[in-house]
Amino acid sequence: MKICFICLGNICRSPMAEFIMKDLLIKNNISDVYVDSKATSYEEEGNDMYYLAKEKLDEKGIKYTRREAHRLEKEDYDKYDLFIGMEDSNINNINRILGREDKTIRLLDDRNISDPWYTRDFEKAYNDIYEGCNKLFKNIDKIR
Ligand code: 4NP
Repeated sequence: MKICFICLGNICRSPMAEFIMKDLLIKNNISDVYVDSKATSYEEEGNDMYYLAKEKLDEKGIKYTRREAHRLEKEDYDKYDLFIGMEDSNINNINRILGREDKTIRLLDDRNISDPWYTRDFEKAYNDIYEGCNKLFKNIDKIR
């Protein structure tokens, strides 16, 4: 099972989701779910997670590694089983990049997660993403 979280820049929401999900999987001894994250734009290509996202993960005790933002590409359709966008505009862009619309492409928790890059509210973003990841985690057996 391979999950790819996706947001606009891949430096705030989707990497936060990636590391929150990895933390949930590690704490529950699940090793057969691979988690990654990507962008729908090249805006932050190659950049590490934004420092305020890292600070929020530090505050919450979630481990992360140095990483590079990458845009989702058409070939990625075959590399993942599930594409989880953070807001409606991500879903539109994912559909456009992958060239299809199907049930493997969904919103996290069926709602829009406000972009902390613009709101500056990393606490709200963290809480919303955590809640979404927790629900996704609880349903993982139904999905795979
Ligand atoms: P993210 O936030 O989509 O949660 O990673 C953003 C980060 C950077 C930009 C947009 C959104 N940007 O346009 O540079």
